[in-house]
Amino acid sequence: MTITMVYEVYLDNSATTPVFSEVIDIMAKVMREEYGNPSSLHRRGSGAERLMQEARRTMAALLCVSSEEIIFTSGGTESNNLAILGIARRNRRQGDHLVTTLIEHSSVLEPFQQLEEEGFKVTYLLPDARGLIDPVAAAAAVGERTILVSIMHVNNEIGSLLPVSPISAAIKARNPRVFFHVDGVQSFGKLHLQPGAMGIDALSISAHKFHGPRGAGVLYLRKGIHMEPLLRGGGHEDGRRAGTENTPAIAGMALAASLSCREQAQKINKLTFLKEKLLSSVEQAHPWLKVNGPREGDAAAPHILNISFPGLKGELILHSLEEYGVYISTGSACHSRKNAPSHVLQALKLDTRTMEGTIRISLSEQNTAAQIEYAAAALHKVVAALA
Ligand SMILES: Cc1ncc(COP(=O)(O)O)c(C=O)c1O
Repeated sequence: MTITMVYEVYLDNSATTPVFSEVIDIMAKVMREEYGNPSSLHRRGSGAERLMQEARRTMAALLCVSSEEIIFTSGGTESNNLAILGIARRNRRQGDHLVTTLIEHSSVLEPFQQLEEEGFKVTYLLPDARGLIDPVAAAAAVGERTILVSIMHVNNEIGSLLPVSPISAAIKARNPRVFFHVDGVQSFGKLHLQPGAMGIDALSISAHKFHGPRGAGVLYLRKGIHMEPLLRGGGHEDGRRAGTENTPAIAGMALAASLSCREQAQKINKLTFLKEKLLSSVEQAHPWLKVNGPREGDAAAPHILNISFPGLKGELILHSLEEYGVYISTGSACHSRKNAPSHVLQALKLDTRTMEGTIRISLSEQNTAAQIEYAAAALHKVVAALA
């Protein structure tokens, strides 16, 4: 099949997503018209404060929580740091043991490493070969002195969808005082995510993963949980996160969240269909490829596909696809410049040839079937040329 470069196909939506045009419009409007500081006592300030309250109500309603439980942050990294460092340090008198997994994002793993340096003991759970964590194993790691468990909802590299509700039930049956934090950065806006119904005490989300702006995120923190702030200053966010609020980004995030959470069932069906279409088409031409993480079913996120072509170099595939206008990733964008094998692929115990030949394709609802056909044809050509 001959293909000519007709357009751009962006398939790196787990790294970041294109911002919805409605979101760009509202942000420009807020910057132009509601430029006041929400803390100011005059009319410009109260206008900005009203916008913040509206955004807080929107985020709370989408998560089915109350407005006081929403803390605005600068994104997923800050929400994860704040939840983990803040909850552990503030509740140290109750215990010094923490639990997480080996496949978390670095913005979870590094705070845990910091806490180890501060004298906490951390248990790192090993995933199974598909990148899943067994609730029974999670519960077995919890003891009398455990104060916090942090486990992600969707893995950003391999798209495994972790059984968050059963994990919560299992760890809390073992120790009802334990707090459960979930990194929901890759799932919010795509999958059902309700802290109350799922037994989540703290939840991190990030606007730029659901077509909102960079530099805005939320930490949901269940009422009654005490946490030490990371940033101190003007008492913003009820003393939990100081700093003048990024009103345009927060308003943009709330709109992006509302738009992303519409018609979720249809969206999941569409993403599942596109992902399977891409995979089956490439697999037909190259049956030797390996799928990393769950391929389908309840344990597979509908928007992330991680595949290996053992013996090839993922980075070469990436740059060759770029020539066709198709953008993908070799793993998580945060690590792809480090030139080290991904800790997630290592935790799956993949051999070096397989790890080196890995690419990640991540979809959004903006992708079309025609784009997927084009990308599959391009990938087929690239792999055939490199193999
Ligand atoms: C699972 C996960 N958690 C946290 C983050 C960090 O989010 P942010 O880029 O908003 O700091 C990312 C970003 O890729 C992620 O994929």
